[in-house]
Formats: sequence, C-alpha cells, structure tokens
Amino acid sequence: MSGSRVVALGHHQPQRVLTNADLETMVDTNDEWIRQRTGIATRHIADDESVTDMAAGAASKALASSGLTPSDIGQVIVATCSAIDRCPSIAAQVAGRLNIPDAVCFDLNNACAGFCTALATADHTLRAGAAKHALVIGAEKMSDLTDWTDRASCILLGDGAGAAVLSASDDAQIGPVTWGSDPSRGNAVRLVDDWQPRFAQEGQAVFRWATSELPAVVVQACQRAGIATKDLAGIVTHQANLRIIEAMSRKLDLRDDVVIARDVVHSGNTSAASVPLALSKMAERGELPSGQPVLLFAFGGGLSWAGQVITCP
Ligand SMILES: CC(C)(COP(=O)(O)OP(=O)(O)OC[C@H]1O[C@@H](n2cnc3c(N)ncnc32)[C@H](O)[C@@H]1OP(=O)(O)O)[C@@H](O)C(=O)NCCC(=O)NCCS
Repeated sequence: MSGSRVVALGHHQPQRVLTNADLETMVDTNDEWIRQRTGIATRHIADDESVTDMAAGAASKALASSGLTPSDIGQVIVATCSAIDRCPSIAAQVAGRLNIPDAVCFDLNNACAGFCTALATADHTLRAGAAKHALVIGAEKMSDLTDWTDRASCILLGDGAGAAVLSASDDAQIGPVTWGSDPSRGNAVRLVDDWQPRFAQEGQAVFRWATSELPAVVVQACQRAGIATKDLAGIVTHQANLRIIEAMSRKLDLRDDVVIARDVVHSGNTSAASVPLALSKMAERGELPSGQPVLLFAFGGGLSWAGQVITCP
C-alpha cells in the first residue's frame, strides 16, 4: 500500500452548553467582549463524562459508519493533553469499550496540534504495513484544566471528541505532514500546576505568532501535497479564535467558502479535539467537499503545529 485514506468520521460533545450569558454570572465579562475578541458564543462542558467516555463515544460512531468490525482495527491513538489517566492509556480503554481485541493502543500529547500529529503517525503506520486500519481520536476535557476565576482564559475552552477511521490504500489520500515546534516560546501556552493543573497563556503573543508565522506553514503543507493554497477546496484549522482563523485566511488570500470550519463559535477551543470535531460535524451536515483537497491544520502548546492535505471522504 502506498498510503492511507480517511474512511469515516464521528464526534461526541457533552450535552451541557455554557453560554456567554452564563459566564457573565461567573466572572467580570460580557457577551459583546467575548464575541468581538474570540467569536465564541457557546461551548460544551462535560460534567460527569470523562475523556475516555467522550473518546469512546466519538470512536464508536466513526467505527460504525466505517463498516469495519472491531477486529479490523490494528491501531488506536488518542490525542489528548487533558486526560488524568496515565495507565491504562485512554486509547487502551477505548479499545476495551469497543471490543477491539488486538490493536496497538497509545495516547499522544502534542496539545492542540495532537490530532493532526496522530493522523500523520497513523498514516505512517499504515504506509509501513504495520496495520491495515487505524482509529485516530482527539479528545479533551479542558474544563478540568480551566481556572474558572480567570476571565481571560475560562471564556475560551470547551470539551468534546472527534474521531477518524483510516484504511491503508493504494491511493494516498492523506498528504505528507508538515509539523514542527518552537520550544523557545514553549511557555506561551502552558499548564501551571500548584496542586491542580490549569491552563494559562500569553494570549497576545500566541495571537501574533499564529497570524504572522503560521500562514507560511500552511503554504508549505500545500506545497508538500503538490498543490497551491488556491487549489484547496477547504481548510479546517484549529478552532482557537475566529479572529485568528479570519486573519490567517486574509493573509493566505483564501476565499470565504474555502474557510469551511467555524465551529469555534459553537464549541470554543477544544484543543486536540477541535479539528476532528469540526470535520465530523461538517460531514454529518453534508458540508464536506467530498473527493477534493482539504487542509487540516492545528497549532498551540509547544509551541507546535501539524497539518496535512487530505482528500475529503
Ligand atoms: C485571549 C484573547 C482572546 C485576548 O484578547 P486580547 O484582545 O488579546 O485582549 P487582552 O488580553 O489584550 O486584554 C484586553 C483587555 O480586556 C480585558 N479582558 C480579558 N479578558 C476579558 C474578558 N473575558 N472579558 C472582558 N474583558 C477581558 C483585559 O483585562 C484587558 O483589560 P485592560 O486593557 O484594562 O488591561 C486573545 O489574545 C487570543 O485569542 N489569543 C490567542 C489565544 C489562542 O489562540 N490560544 C491558542 C492556544 S491553543
């Protein structure tokens, strides 16, 4: 097999929706400020559900729609930075819940860039012939890491999971990954830990980095796939802030209809879950440009980034 392709998607979001009006009762903020600076209107919060619950929910939907059986799956990767469990891994727990009997299972932490990193890892596994089908999941319970007294960050984060089933294929529909990191600026997004880990960031520095330096990485990801950015039928970037998405698309001179994912408005920043969540929700609504090139691109803690052009399922 010379490559792999995405054959199915699935997602899971907890039921409780936290609105900007709800946040107004918790910290000194207001709906207008949040919408203007971030574009976010709502986010979903997991009360009783764990990262494993959400990951298994998304994965079971993706597996069901793939038409494969659990024993077909040879690899399960869960991208997460918020899971409390270390061992057994979330991936192993998901395999147990889905009755996947014989897969290599592991978690991968590359913060918000985790899903695209995991997608490349699974693609490389399938190319190498070490498995025929893989389950790749991004799942986060960011509400566990949120300082609910910090108005600068608690408005941003949300919970959820998205999953993709990949199959080895003669037709390489997952393009070469472009990935990297800038550890010299690693502390710009971090988990601070004095008894309980919580999310902290230098918001303006991250905003500047994402809008000034990452458009060139997007161009590079397209070049590696043998296309120009103008050939993209869609771009699904990390859903951190609508202003970042719009500033990047202006720099790249992308048409409005190419920037197909704006799920940040409804889901906030769900870290490693954000790209597969947005992708799967669009697939469910029939909004994906099937058979055409779409760039997946994610960035965040590390500072790190990862992205690849896929042919949309
Ligand atoms: C976080 C972010 C929305 C803040 O927006 P900003 O325009 O940079 O705002 P600032 O931090 O400069 O704060 C401006 C003012 O708003 C205030 N403010 C901060 N949060 C607020 C809130 N929720 N409601 C009302 N006011 C708020 C600040 O205290 C500050 O007040 P001051 O001028 O009196 O000091 C923005 O920086 C951002 O999105 N950065 C990128 C984050 C990101 O993408 N991270 C990815 C991690 S994967």
